[in-house]
Amino acid sequence: MAPVFAAFALLVSAIAALGDATARDSQASACAQFAPDDIPGVTVTAATYFPAYARVDITNIFSSINTTDLPAFCRVELKVTTNATAGSFANTEVWLPDAWTGRTLTIGNGGFGGGVTVADLGGIAVPQGFVGISTNTGHNSTVLDGSWAGPHNDNAIVDWGWRAIHLSVVAGKEVASQYYDQTPKKSYYAGCSTGGRQGLKEIQMFPDSFDGILVGAPANFMTHHEAWAAHMSLNVLPVTSSRFIPESVWINVIAPEVMCQCDALDGLSDGIINDPRVCSFRPEVLTCTPGQDTSTCLTGDQINALHRIYADYYEADQTYIFGGYQPGGEKLYARGLVGAAPFPLLQDWFRFFVTNDTQWTPDQFNASLITLSEQVNPGQADAISPNLTAFAGAPHNGKVLHYVGWADQLISAGYSVHYYETVHAFAQENSTLAIDDFYRLFPVPGMTHCVVCFFPHASGGQAANAFGAVSQPAPLSLDAEHNIIAAMVRWVEDGVAPSQIVGVKYNNDLPSNGIAFTRPICKYPTTVRYQGGDPNSASSFVCG
Ligand SMILES: *[C@@H]1O[C@H](CO)[C@@H](O)[C@H](O)[C@H]1NC(C)=O
Ligand SMILES: *[C@@H]1O[C@H](CO)[C@@H](O)[C@H](O)[C@H]1NC(C)=O
Ligand SMILES: *[C@@H]1O[C@H](CO)[C@@H](O)[C@H](O)[C@H]1NC(C)=O
Ligand SMILES: *[C@@H]1O[C@H](CO)[C@@H](O)[C@H](O)[C@H]1NC(C)=O
Ligand SMILES: *[C@@H]1O[C@H](CO)[C@@H](O)[C@H](O)[C@H]1NC(C)=O
Ligand SMILES: *[C@@H]1O[C@H](CO)[C@@H](O)[C@H](O)[C@H]1NC(C)=O
Ligand SMILES: *[C@@H]1O[C@H](CO)[C@@H](O)[C@H](O)[C@H]1NC(C)=O
Repeated sequence: MAPVFAAFALLVSAIAALGDATARDSQASACAQFAPDDIPGVTVTAATYFPAYARVDITNIFSSINTTDLPAFCRVELKVTTNATAGSFANTEVWLPDAWTGRTLTIGNGGFGGGVTVADLGGIAVPQGFVGISTNTGHNSTVLDGSWAGPHNDNAIVDWGWRAIHLSVVAGKEVASQYYDQTPKKSYYAGCSTGGRQGLKEIQMFPDSFDGILVGAPANFMTHHEAWAAHMSLNVLPVTSSRFIPESVWINVIAPEVMCQCDALDGLSDGIINDPRVCSFRPEVLTCTPGQDTSTCLTGDQINALHRIYADYYEADQTYIFGGYQPGGEKLYARGLVGAAPFPLLQDWFRFFVTNDTQWTPDQFNASLITLSEQVNPGQADAISPNLTAFAGAPHNGKVLHYVGWADQLISAGYSVHYYETVHAFAQENSTLAIDDFYRLFPVPGMTHCVVCFFPHASGGQAANAFGAVSQPAPLSLDAEHNIIAAMVRWVEDGVAPSQIVGVKYNNDLPSNGIAFTRPICKYPTTVRYQGGDPNSASSFVCG
């Protein structure tokens, strides 16, 4: 380049940099001085500007982030009154990127977790240009701790059930409108587990809140789900009983036999069962012969327990309660609901939400507690309406994307299918809507519960478990083929519905360890099928 042009180019870029700096300074002061006009029940407690690539190091009891990768944004912290009489409130955050796309993305929680989901506000919302909204749901706690709900803390339970997130969505959209002086053009939601429940609850109660929701492994039938969790525990407990199955037997005896019977049925022995419903696993093969070391085989009582564990759970009168485990997740099932101790969340649920008996223990569970749970329906948390017409029908035309791991160790994948089918049947009988036009389900072969971080000892399973949803490692790309958030936006805004998403499995679920394989995740009821070629490449598979 000739020197004079080089000097000119330098000058131009210096002016541009100056312009950027000016824009940044004005954005920074707009953030620091942000004082929204009266939003009823809402006060701003802090507003902090983070320039691009600044360190964002935020930790609360539920979620944390520590990164220098983010584009510039303004972090607004809110106190949202949920019941003025009771003095109850939620802590909510709204993260507003400088490079806003005009969209909002509300992020849900997990379990009983009470803390703003900062990991996904920074991991998903801000880098993809969304205003991110998330709340502590009205209390501060870890995922497994429900003691804040007692004694008789009804306002806190209702806040967790639906109120805190609803009021936060309303507040967050208003904050965005005032900050940018522009109404958000579209609003989205993403969450897994309790987060899945929160999304379904919001569209059932307030169909206009979101244009599209992404729900993973939803805990949207709490009154039945916790009963099922107790039932699962009692299938094997107490540890001293003849039906108890030690973790080592799950891992070393049952898991390999399940793979032996089920894995190759889909044409590929890869440790992934594409559709576990086509395999009827027969544990009898493992029956101990006289004198055999019982750490290598199963007794009759253990085999009977396995039949109950893999079966859907019905009451004596054939009322459907919940799904059962699917073959394929055995390595983690003892860390799920059939281990040496009942899953802690279930005890707190019955103690603090249902019976008000702080001494209640899971061995006291019986079917009458299902009826009681339904009568109380704590916090109106169940979100099981099959009638999504107000959300999905004209003029709103909302969309639901739902995913679940077939190897989920905490919420039966079969229940996800069950809920989808109730919506399907309702739509067929009671509306002119075709399910495929508003609700698509993506079961993920081999994937465990929501993949990461919520629960101790979790691992993502042998599965293409990273595709852009909450609490996952980063997707392979942010485009709509690999990133389910982008697929949701494209469906809502361009009318292009996803039939598959290409997921990635990283070695040990860490992107820095490199890619193990990629694979399509198929829309239910299609299944991924191997066509030949490199089994580590998504292009060797089709959905059909
Ligand atoms: C966040 O990362 C920085 C740099 O690695 C480190 O100095 C800091 O202690 C970390 N914060 C937390 C809470 O771990
Ligand atoms: C608000 O809290 C008060 C006091 O706990 C309670 O009596 C009332 O029912 C609550 N209102 C709602 C709408 O939850
Ligand atoms: C939750 O923690 C925040 C931050 O420490 C605190 O301001 C708030 O009062 C707590 N909320 C409740 C309901 O205790
Ligand atoms: C437990 O207490 C809550 C709040 O007072 C009440 O709504 C619920 O009915 C009680 N449950 C039982 C089984 O008494
Ligand atoms: C079922 O459990 C409830 C609560 O623990 C208890 O009050 C009731 O007596 C039990 N019913 C039977 C039939 O054991
Ligand atoms: C479904 O819900 C809509 C409104 O949410 C209601 O108008 C309609 O009557 C319901 N359909 C049936 C069959 O209950
Ligand atoms: C159709 O709507 C009616 C009235 O709400 C309901 O009772 C029925 O169960 C619905 N049909 C299906 C298949 O869900």
